[in-house]
Amino acid sequence: MCGITGYVGKRNATPILIESLTKLEYRGYDSAGLALLKSGNFNVIKKTGRVASLANEVAKKQIDANIGISHTRWATHGGVNDANAHPHISSDGKFTLVHNGIIENYENIKNFLVNQGYTFASQTDSEVLVNLIAYHYEHRTSPDTKNRFTESVRKALIHIEGTYGIAVLGKDFPEEIVVARKGSPLLIGVGKNEYLVSSDVLGFAGRATNVIYLEDGQIASITCDNCDVITMTNSPVGIDIKEIDWELENADLGTSKTYMQKEIFEQPKALENAIRGRISDDLSTSVLNGLNITPTELRQFDRILFCACGTAWHACLVAEYLIEKYARIPVEVEYASEFRYRNAPLDKSTLVFVVSQSGETIDTLQALRESKRKGFKTLAITNSVGSTISRESDGGLYQYAGKEVGVASTKAFTSQIMICLLIALYIGRMRDLSFSEGREIVKAITSLPNAIRDILKLAPQIEKIAKKYSHYNDFLFLGRLSEFPIALEGALKLKEISYIHAEGYPSAEMKHGPIALVSPECPSVILANDAEITPKVVSNAQEIKARSGKIIAITNTPELFANIADDIIAMPNLHDSVRVIATTIPLQILAYYIALERGCDVDKPRNLAKAVTVE
Ligand code: F6R
Repeated sequence: MCGITGYVGKRNATPILIESLTKLEYRGYDSAGLALLKSGNFNVIKKTGRVASLANEVAKKQIDANIGISHTRWATHGGVNDANAHPHISSDGKFTLVHNGIIENYENIKNFLVNQGYTFASQTDSEVLVNLIAYHYEHRTSPDTKNRFTESVRKALIHIEGTYGIAVLGKDFPEEIVVARKGSPLLIGVGKNEYLVSSDVLGFAGRATNVIYLEDGQIASITCDNCDVITMTNSPVGIDIKEIDWELENADLGTSKTYMQKEIFEQPKALENAIRGRISDDLSTSVLNGLNITPTELRQFDRILFCACGTAWHACLVAEYLIEKYARIPVEVEYASEFRYRNAPLDKSTLVFVVSQSGETIDTLQALRESKRKGFKTLAITNSVGSTISRESDGGLYQYAGKEVGVASTKAFTSQIMICLLIALYIGRMRDLSFSEGREIVKAITSLPNAIRDILKLAPQIEKIAKKYSHYNDFLFLGRLSEFPIALEGALKLKEISYIHAEGYPSAEMKHGPIALVSPECPSVILANDAEITPKVVSNAQEIKARSGKIIAITNTPELFANIADDIIAMPNLHDSVRVIATTIPLQILAYYIALERGCDVDKPRNLAKAVTVE
């Protein structure tokens, strides 16, 4: 949520900052702005709306400066308007700042600053911080204070409760950017005679080959040829420079119309990447070195807890089915946002997994920290190499799905399920899964990417169905057993990108309430791919039909729905272990085409942003 960027070097900062913002726009797109520092003056341009409008505005001004900061906003405090757009300038005109996060005690600080004579032009919490920096510069440091700019920022931050990733420019410091983080990501890209700042590697737009991941509680002073990092207690920190793997970070749209379309169609590849090097045919199991845990240690755990948010939480629900079925270990799944405050009693033999595509979701990160604080071994499944969650966990598995830019998660979801399946197989083969059962699962896993390639060929048929149903305003998604979380995910995909009300339920549970919604105006999408339970799902479908509800069936037994469903998407027969991954694909495509038909921006749905770094 919110993307911040910065540049200091020898080149014209403007096009660099605009390009960085364009890459970070998935983090928020309510407004965008930049501040350039030239000849002792700030040039601040900010605008409600997308980065493209800002770029037009900036082009008219033609300012050539070598240092600047910029921001793309996802509104928290204060409405979506030009005044609340970042950067904000202190009322004495000496500092300007961009901020990602939430300052919880901003009201108290604002009252204090108003009493000191500072004035405010916006309703944001962020403007309070830039004025607090100005206050500390003016009143709590003197001209001979060493590193006075950094020191003013540090002293101000001591009083801040909440989260922040910030980049600050000071009028009296024409060659320096000061950045800091607590709870919100902040990366420093190292170039030749230049440094870049970004909330995400993507914002470097290929301009840096190396990166410094700032840790919570660190502050950095950056000039074109130097970067010094200190802690909040003013102790110097050794810099750890990491190489960026641009192959993994590549996020070009290529020939696709939208990122969501591209990412849906990338799923076979993403699954291949998740599996690569992690299967042992000889032993009929998976090889998961990243878990950083020996088989003997793993045997000590007799319960697994998964924490995540949103789509990743749905992947965890699927994990519960897979791990309980194949590894016979009880699994619990918690919303990360609940777990961190719930103080759930956990048995000491519990292994905790957090799952996060971005690796930066604040609730998931805090759940990870809470679990570690309590002394639990905490592993992560994430798609973002170097993300905060991956750095702070005790081990884990990268998804290697490639950068996901579309705000609605698609390939990350199926790849998270695949990783969970690999875990189920691994633990299962250590417990009571036989060699031949393991071999069947290995076969299913390795042949899944091609099966998905075939399912993707159904897109034109699904597009026609989507056109037929795009005018409905309510949908039910029904599935049983491991297809229940897939029904939840199908409903979430539809609602987030098309703004249609949709609910997911276990099919049989429908009779206990949701059936009241069934009418010719509320179609049901029914998932029926598990032979064991299909006859029951057929009965549920009949109950809907009897109430004149329209039905789209996604099923590997189309013959059973021939006289019941209005539309059928026929699925292949796949092994139990991988079936739900396949079932997800038509749901994503259906949501995608319904949203397009309704004229929605599928990559940037209203009110949403990709990495949720605020509570
Ligand atoms: C929905 C979606 C979100 C994310 C959630 C967690 O399509 O993308 O629900 O799944 O915000 O994000 P990560 O996985 O980055 O922690």
